[in-house]
Amino acid sequence: MTPDLKVTLAGVEFSNPIMTASGCCGYGEELADVFPLEKLGALVTKSITREPRLGHPPPRTAETPAGMLNAIGLANVGVKRFLAEKIPWLETQKTKIIVNVAGSSLDEYVEICAMLADCERADMIELNISCPNVSEGGIQFGTNPAMTEKVIAEVKKVFSRPLVAKLTPNVTDIVEMAKAAEQGGADVLSLINSMVGTSIDIETWQTRLTNNKGGLTGPAIKPIALALVDAVHSNCRLPIIGIGGIATAADVIEFLLVGASAVQVGTALFVEPDAPVKILNDLTSYLKRKQLARVTDLVGQVRKY
Ligand SMILES: Cc1cc2nc3c(=O)[nH]c(=O)nc-3n(C[C@H](O)[C@H](O)[C@H](O)COP(=O)(O)O)c2cc1C
Repeated sequence: MTPDLKVTLAGVEFSNPIMTASGCCGYGEELADVFPLEKLGALVTKSITREPRLGHPPPRTAETPAGMLNAIGLANVGVKRFLAEKIPWLETQKTKIIVNVAGSSLDEYVEICAMLADCERADMIELNISCPNVSEGGIQFGTNPAMTEKVIAEVKKVFSRPLVAKLTPNVTDIVEMAKAAEQGGADVLSLINSMVGTSIDIETWQTRLTNNKGGLTGPAIKPIALALVDAVHSNCRLPIIGIGGIATAADVIEFLLVGASAVQVGTALFVEPDAPVKILNDLTSYLKRKQLARVTDLVGQVRKY
């Protein structure tokens, strides 16, 4: 028997729990050359801002042991061009689309989400209140519980489809932020965004990123992400999308066991662009081997000492 991979988050049904993470496959066009996007549960777009952004000058990525640092600086086409140029192509893709939105002010978040409200192809919005790589806004909305609650509550007034709040690990207590997001009316939580870090060339004494610091991602952050998903799942009722260092089906299974209902694959796409397809095949084999009828049978089933 083929196991059922479907998951439902906030009333939206996804064909499987594997999504791409924001910023790791642009708006999807290049990834569609690697595998049909209908294989994905959902594609999450690069963060969209009100105005187009070029981001930081290079170098804006650096490899680290078991991960990478990036300070892209939210390079994107801006919401008008996204709607005019990217959405028509996304309309043709048979996967759910989650549009990731970033802003530097409350007004900017609300204005972008209001513009996306009429765009039915945006099945959900993921609110990036956790970007460590911009000077204004970004992470400030995700590190202050009152600001988290407010931005979500205001966006909910203009966007009626489900809203995902993407949380940062760069806080003392992520559960407090999760509760603020829930209080504001978020429908789903996604975690984690990258962890602030840096790297220095000892020959030149120069930092390796023009932004001097960046966001650490990849396998190095997986244990941290797992512990944070576990903490949020244990204290919050909202469904969770787990993110952080996922590269294999085994990684996905760990995230589901600690309480994630779905996951996003980010940095692994730079190493192995077809990782989501391999993950899906291996996840199906695992469910068969364990004689589980549904992938949802794993969610929150971790055994603890
Ligand atoms: C190059 C790069 C660009 C990213 N850009 C964004 C972005 O625009 N918006 C966002 O919410 N997250 C962004 N992220 C964070 C990822 O979506 C994800 O939360 C993070 O990389 C952790 O997952 P991973 O370890 O699987 O990569 C970016 C990550 C990378 C590596």
